[in-house]
Amino acid sequence: MAVQKHDDAGMSGPRPAPGSNVARYGRIAPLYDVLDLPFERRRYRPLRPLMFESLHGRLLDAGVGTGRNCPFYPPDAVVSAIDSSPAMLARARRRCQTVAAAGRLYRMDVTSLAFPTGEFDAAVATFLFCVLPDQQQHPALRELGRVVRRGGLIRLLEYVRPTQTLRRIISRIWQPWIAWAYGAGFDRNTESYVPGAGLELIESRYVVDDLIKLLTIRVP
Ligand SMILES: C[S@@+](CC[C@H](N)C(=O)[O-])C[C@H]1O[C@@H](n2cnc3c(N)ncnc32)[C@H](O)[C@@H]1O
Repeated sequence: MAVQKHDDAGMSGPRPAPGSNVARYGRIAPLYDVLDLPFERRRYRPLRPLMFESLHGRLLDAGVGTGRNCPFYPPDAVVSAIDSSPAMLARARRRCQTVAAAGRLYRMDVTSLAFPTGEFDAAVATFLFCVLPDQQQHPALRELGRVVRRGGLIRLLEYVRPTQTLRRIISRIWQPWIAWAYGAGFDRNTESYVPGAGLELIESRYVVDDLIKLLTIRVP
């Protein structure tokens, strides 16, 4: 498979476009784990095992970031992981040593994956779609749907705009910071793109108040 591995990708090369996620995560990567730590401990860590429930075989972790999902990969699964940011991948390499040592940590954009059709039994993405701009939601879902085999699952964990008044106000206060730092937004409405991408939404449920949703999608 002719795919660009993290090691080939390097940290040099052409400068990322200003305002792109690659530029943004190049800037925030050294601080990412520290800034996220309180959320990781209290909020995200208990959710991560849910992503892998009943998943087996060949799995893709899209937008692996600094590798926070890696300790939760099913021991019998063969996991590949991708991210568009060399700086984040450099951190994932330390946390995901098994995947890195097997050469399955790749620098790729989720909207244009260099994997064959039907390569994976399932794909997961945690807090990836809430950092993708609206115009990338459809191509990213289509691409995950292409690389996951028919009948396979795609699981997404994503922030959404809360409906409860106080949480809604707080989300508006946070919005400028998370947009600048992470390219993130609460208004992505990823599930609305699922049917148009030729996929089937089989479950959408809140897992933290009305703020974080777990989506389970099937490739028909
Ligand atoms: C908010 S972080 C989440 C990281 C990790 N999944 C987690 O749960 O901690 C989003 C990650 O998505 C990556 N990313 C953003 N746009 C991407 C794209 N178009 N293709 C692949 N990865 C992307 C970023 O580089 C970053 O590492």
